[in-house]
Order: sequence, then C-alpha cells, then structure tokens
Amino acid sequence: MSEKQLSGEVYYPKQHVLDHANAKCQTLYDFAQKDYQGFWAKEAENLHWFTKWNKVLDDSNKPFYKWFVGGKTNIAYNCLDAHTQTFRRNKLALIWEGEKGESHSYSYFALRRETCRFANVLKSLGVKKGDRVTLYMGRIPELMIGMLACARIGAIHSVVYGGFSVEALHERLEDSQSKVLIVADGAYQRGKIVPLKQIADEALQRAASVESVLVVKRTGEPINMEAGRDMWYHELMVLPIAGNTCSIEEMDAEDPLFMLYTSGTTGKPKAILHTHGGYMVGTYTTLKYVFDIHEDDRFWCAADPGWITGHSYIVYGPLLNGATSFMYEGAPTHPYPNRWWQMIEKYGINILYTAPTAIRGLMRFGDAWPNRHDLSSLRLLGSVGEPINPEAWRWYYKTIGKEKCPIMDTWWQTETGMFMISPMPCVPLKPGSGTKPFPGLEMDIVDEEGKSVKPNEEGFLVIKTPWPAMLRTIWNDPDRYVNQYWSKYPGMYLTGDSARKDEDGYYWIIGRVDDVIKVSGYRLGTAEIESALVSHPSVAEAAAIGLPHDIKGNAIHCFVILKAGFTKSDKLIEELRQHVGHEVGPIAKPELIEIVESLPKTRSGKIMRRVLKARALGLDPGNLSTLEE
Ligand code: WTA
Repeated sequence: MSEKQLSGEVYYPKQHVLDHANAKCQTLYDFAQKDYQGFWAKEAENLHWFTKWNKVLDDSNKPFYKWFVGGKTNIAYNCLDAHTQTFRRNKLALIWEGEKGESHSYSYFALRRETCRFANVLKSLGVKKGDRVTLYMGRIPELMIGMLACARIGAIHSVVYGGFSVEALHERLEDSQSKVLIVADGAYQRGKIVPLKQIADEALQRAASVESVLVVKRTGEPINMEAGRDMWYHELMVLPIAGNTCSIEEMDAEDPLFMLYTSGTTGKPKAILHTHGGYMVGTYTTLKYVFDIHEDDRFWCAADPGWITGHSYIVYGPLLNGATSFMYEGAPTHPYPNRWWQMIEKYGINILYTAPTAIRGLMRFGDAWPNRHDLSSLRLLGSVGEPINPEAWRWYYKTIGKEKCPIMDTWWQTETGMFMISPMPCVPLKPGSGTKPFPGLEMDIVDEEGKSVKPNEEGFLVIKTPWPAMLRTIWNDPDRYVNQYWSKYPGMYLTGDSARKDEDGYYWIIGRVDDVIKVSGYRLGTAEIESALVSHPSVAEAAAIGLPHDIKGNAIHCFVILKAGFTKSDKLIEELRQHVGHEVGPIAKPELIEIVESLPKTRSGKIMRRVLKARALGLDPGNLSTLEE
C-alpha cells in the first residue's frame, strides 16, 4: 500500500499473493478516495438491475440514506438466475457437510430450482412482498434455500440463531410479527440434539402472529405437529404447487431484504434492517476484493448463518460472486480436533474465514492435529468477531497457513452489513490490526467532543462516509436508529467500539464501550441476560458484565440480589444459570453468578457496570462522583 517502512511486527505481502490478486488494490484505494460514489456505482454495474438507478446516493434526509435510488433489482436473481444463464449453471454453489459426515452439494441450477420450489410453497401459504418470515434452524442447506426463497418473492427474512432459546425466539417472532416460522425438528450439536421444534412450540405459545409453521426434518426425532398450523417441508416441496420455476419480484433497491436482531446498549434486541440494492453491492464488492475471489475458489465462512457473518459471507457474498460456498453443520472439534482440517483437505478449501475464539479453541490441541492433513489448498485466511490476539494470529499464520496465506482481519458489524476495516491481499499486515478502512470509507477515532485523537490514543471509532450496505433503520423504531448511531456526533456513525490508530494509520480495535458483551464472538447484551435473570422468581435485581476469558474472549459474570425469603446456595446458582440458558440460549449462560447484598448505582438508579468490572479486575473504578453511596 505504501512504500515506506512500517513500524512494529509487519508481514509484507508475498509475491505469489500479489501475482494472483485479481485487482491492484492501490488503484482501488485511489479511485475510491477521489469518488466513492463512483467507486460503488462501478461495482454495482457488475450486477443485474431490471431498471438502472438514477441516483447513486440520496442524502437529503440524513441519517436515512438511500442508495441506488430508482434502481430495480432482486438479490436472489443476482445470486442464482444471473449465474444459471451462464457457464456457472452446473458449477457448485453450495457444498454442505453434516456433523455426522454426510455431504450434499447443490449446483447453481439445483439451488435455484429448490429456491423456486420453496418460494412457491411460501406463496401458496399467502406470503407476500413485505411479509416477515422467521427461520430457526441449525447450519443446514434449507436455511440458505429459505432465505433465498424469501428474497425471491420480496418477503423479509428474519433468521434467529439456532443457539437461541425460548424467550429470545419469542421476542423476535413478536417484534417482527412474522406470519410464517420455518424451523428444523432439531439440530446436531457435538453429537447431541438441540430440540429446536420443541423450543419453538414453547415460544409460539407466547407469539400470536404466526399462522403457519414449516418443519424441516433433520434429526427425525419425534416431535409435536399441531394440526392446521404445522406442516412438513419435505411433504410440501413435492406437491404440484411447488413448481420448478417461480417468477421473481422486481424489488426497489431500497426495499427491505432482511432484518436481523442484534444486541445494543439498552433494552430489547433491535432488528437491523438491510435492503436489496445497497447490501447486495456492498457484500459482493467486499468479498470479491478482500478475499480475492476467483472462479475456481471454494470459500468457507465457518460462521453461523444466524448471524450477520453468515448472511453476508456464507449466503449472499459468495453467491453474488458465483463462488462455491462451503457450509459445515457441526462443531470444529467434533468428534476430534482435526474435523476442520480434514474437511479442508477433503474439499480442497481455498479460503477459510473464522473467528479468533475458534482459532484459540483449536490451537490448544496443538500442531499435530492440523499437521496430519494436507492444507496446501489454502490461499487466504480470515478472522472476524473480536480482536485477534497476536499469539493466535501467529499460530493461524504459521501452522494453518504455512506462512503463505495472508490473514484478512475484518472489522465490521451487523449494522454495517459488510467489511469496513480490512486488509486486501496486497496490504502489509500487523497481527491484531484490521489495517485500514476498505476503499470508499472514511473512518476515524475521536474523543468525547468528536475531535480526531492523536496517533496511539484511544477513542471512539466512527464512520464518516455513508456506505451501500449500511443499515437503513431499526425495524419499527426509527428514533432508536437516530439516537443510537447518529446523535452523539452529528454526521458520524457511532460504532460502539473503542480503538486506536497507530503512526502508520493502522486501526487497532480495543473493544465495546457500551453494554454489549462478545462471548466467543457472539454478540449479547447485558440487558438480555439481566432480564432473563430477573424473570426467575428468586431474583430481585441483576447485573451482567464481561470479563476476559482465554478461549471465549469474554465470559459473562453476573451479580444477583435475591428476593426476601430466598437464600444463597450452589443449587440455586446452578438453577439460575440453567434458567438463562433456557430463556436466552446456551451461549448466554453465565460463567459465574455471585449473590450480593447491593449493586453500585448512580443516583438515578442505573447500575454502574463499569464499577463492577473494575472491581472484578482489581482496577481503579475511575470517577465515582455519580455513585449513589
Ligand atoms: C466486534 C460481527 C475486532 C466489534 C461481524 C464490533 C471485531 C462487533 C472484529 C460487531 C474484528 C467484529 N476485530 N473486533 N475483526 N469484527 N468485531 O454485530 O466490537 O456480531 O462492534 O458483527 O464485533 O458484532 P456483530
């Protein structure tokens, strides 16, 4: 990127990487810097539009930005139909392996056919453009088919991560007012079965909007099927109504594509809304350049489709690029810690994109497991979800990438829809830094007043230019959208992260500055965990904080005040942990629950989590002038 010598531990791009790269990245940076709208418009032209846009960016009603105004398209058309009309028709779109070792693959032709059939099923159930459909399953192909079928007919999909449980699912069904729920009977997880349908039955008792439930048979375990409401996916998919073709809805570029719930600073999870046009251009472009996608690549994003990483880089990004996406159902270490390495060898995976928590989790089993396998097909590696510690970075680089695969450490969010800070293959790397903003983006680190801080000073990470895959709003709550992201500094998007920039302009993410906890890369809000705790009859008040953890990055620690009449016991603490698991999901189960007599609060009654955290870490709690006592 720059000729000058960089400071610190630097890995300069190797010649074979530069020779292979499909774009000269300096040219991209230069072009985008001069004309970022022109840069995105040029990329958009590589995709199909039924009607071309007449304006790239409409910023007349900030922060409600609009992209590709007047354009008509459909992301599902660009993911499937656009390829089935070319030589890619018989190319593999998706290769899937189940936890038990079975494997299925879908060509672009087959994936389009299945999607059309399912879109017809949805239509026959009365699903129309703008209706919401919730999907709740493990990592199985039907999830991808379901998402694409919704997009095809203009329905808005809302995927709920299969690791969430009753209350989390109920809240999301209720808030989205979903008409249809697509659920699997169960999911395999480390050899055990997660009873998804049973969890959904309980959630549905609390949610009134759902008219039909479509059940995908994955485990074959007995489940309850409610007459008149529940139907088997495989039975509907062979009916004559499920024809092989299904007309495509021409969507306005700004029409919603999906909503995805994520945790924020306060209160209930919020549904981030993404659109057909801008999101499509953003995910297509970022994947193409950052992971240098080539025609014969097999790209493996090991995230879950229930989170934004899976939406953008298992489903939409790879298909828009006509690549082959690989999806694996199970856990990295099941049945043995070589499972991933075995599959890289078996399928000849070229690009592996995962999270630091997974890398750390695999690293602790040592080098012998990966060394038993031929990983020479790998060309690029990626990381996402939380800062990667240099030790894990070096292990990933040496033991997995054999010092020939650069690591793309991508910083982004559910809200941004696409990579924001990330290297490209030609950028020199520093372990632990995502390097610089993607072309066309201006970002900064600012102080309380919104002024840029000096190199190496910590501050708030902000985004100064709009970008095509940006969230458009929070579903049903435009005020919260404005308040949360755009009110602290007018004209700047507030990410909620703190960071610093070094003397070379490289960004180093420090972590969240709000009440979001990243556990194993999963984003959880303190409010969700606390409200699950207080919904237990014994709990009067609760506070949750994240504390450092070797593998998970952060672990949840809770402080609980019991109601009168309840006494502290190990049994009760275990019951509370299980209760959080049942309401929110296993990932939210606190590592530790401490029963306390009081919690530090401000005079207005807000719990001061920062004080709890400082105390737990043995640090100075800072300014206590607002503390009540
Ligand atoms: C964190 C995940 C450091 C960050 C795509 C952000 C990261 C939050 C990185 C969003 C990274 C994501 N380095 N931190 N490469 N990537 N984060 O919405 O705190 O689940 O704000 O999106 O994850 O989490 P989300």
